[in-house]
Amino acid sequence: MNDGSSERTRVVLLAAGQGKRMKSDLPKVLHEVLGKTILGRLLTASDELKPEHIHVVIGHEAEKVEKFIQDNPSATPVSTHLQKPQLGTGHALMQVAPSLKDFSGTLVVSVADTPLLTGGTLKALVDAHKKSNAVVSLLTTDVDDAKNYGRIVRNEKGDVTGIVEHKDATEAQRAIKEINPAIYCFAWPQVEAALSTLKNDNQQKEYYLTDVIGWAHKNSHKIAYSKVPDWREVAGINSRLELAEAMRLMRDITINNLALESGVTIVDTQGTWIAPEVKIGKDTVVLPGCHLTGEIEIGQNCTIGPNTVMKGVVHVGDNSSVAQSLVHNSDIGSNCKVGPFSHLREHTALHDHVKVGNFVEIKKSIINSKTNASHLSYIGDSTLGSGVNIGAGTITANYDHITKKKERTTICDGASTGSNSVLVAPVTLEEGSVVAAGTVVTKTVPKGSLAITRTPQKNYEGWAEERKKKAEAAKLEAAKKG
Ligand code: UD1
Ligand code: CA
Repeated sequence: MNDGSSERTRVVLLAAGQGKRMKSDLPKVLHEVLGKTILGRLLTASDELKPEHIHVVIGHEAEKVEKFIQDNPSATPVSTHLQKPQLGTGHALMQVAPSLKDFSGTLVVSVADTPLLTGGTLKALVDAHKKSNAVVSLLTTDVDDAKNYGRIVRNEKGDVTGIVEHKDATEAQRAIKEINPAIYCFAWPQVEAALSTLKNDNQQKEYYLTDVIGWAHKNSHKIAYSKVPDWREVAGINSRLELAEAMRLMRDITINNLALESGVTIVDTQGTWIAPEVKIGKDTVVLPGCHLTGEIEIGQNCTIGPNTVMKGVVHVGDNSSVAQSLVHNSDIGSNCKVGPFSHLREHTALHDHVKVGNFVEIKKSIINSKTNASHLSYIGDSTLGSGVNIGAGTITANYDHITKKKERTTICDGASTGSNSVLVAPVTLEEGSVVAAGTVVTKTVPKGSLAITRTPQKNYEGWAEERKKKAEAAKLEAAKKG
């Protein structure tokens, strides 16, 4: 019996396997599902249990998985445990056991190839476990096609008595439609005793974690279960096709929520890809062909798309439109117009009422309110004040190829640049200054002044007519010569 003495919870994620069927150099758990790795999604779902610690078992391409964990710190402390060689899921948990010496409580153990698993489903399992004071609890689900999943074996009373792997199952057992998603709760340290009883006398010569269920039954320990209504939520990803299927399902769930809960119009529910972490305000319309992945927040009454990609951390205020554009780790204020064909690269911030138009690229720049850059510009490493007008084809020359240094451009309130001007950084256009079309600016333009670097225009009267006559005469001459 679980003595129920503790509310302590820890999570173990099994991520050491190779994922052979993915046919990839990348470990399976580092493949992305709508902008976030499978492991990243499991760490987020695990965080929702507010555990004191998450243990990740790594093995195949361990350095890559370790690096991912270090680069993406989780809300919960995470430690990694090397499993080499990988002798099965039971053997994977054995690698963590020594680190659990001082732990007593609920140990949630999950495979790490189930990207659709939510914190809510994990909570339902933990609740079932605690409520029934079980020693071992598991998720189960019913499927039409049991594929290679482990089958849940029950006795005539309907009690779970064990799990049999597909490869070891009899024909009768293979007909069972209730399968094992491989997500469990163990009362710890009671269940530690099961690990030393695991044997590898099976088809795969592996130490199966699934045998812990049989151990619990044999030893008359209480077994609880929580059934997941839709099997797809706990589907394991074993191939690229299953990965694609997971993405489709995640998209469908997300779009349903946005449409039904948040009041968002999504014109093309199949041709729009939105990750579950994206938040969108009421009455915003998402047009076809958009890919929105990352920690994105879009306000109310916006129009996004068509064919717009947003990724990373992106904020958009209310009443803004972003058409046919690419936005990466940038902020867009309220009442802004972006696109068509704009590229906002990392660390760009547009304040309110800003207009960024056709073929404008902006990087690491702050653009204050009511400023326009409507056509064909590159603005990099710059600060623009408010009410600035950037003429078509204005370029900030921010990069010195020899020194590899980047310099800043500052354009103060109310300044304007003419078409085809080049601002060679570091440089400042002071308040209300004007840069004439075609000018190359290399030094400060003082407040209210005009900067112009053009050579004065000369007109040659009758030149075109004369040129034409000469050309015609030459043609006649050539014809005569035959
Ligand atoms: C496992 C279960 C099966 C269940 C299915 C659900 C066992 C024996 N079988 O089978 O009952 O229906 O998941 O998706 O547990 N791993 C390690 N170390 C190892 C082997 C695997 O860490 O030595 C990790 C893998 O990285 C993966 C997870 O465990 O994240 C599952 O491994 P996988 O080989 O996909 O198991 P399945 O055959 O799918
Ligand atoms: Ca699997």
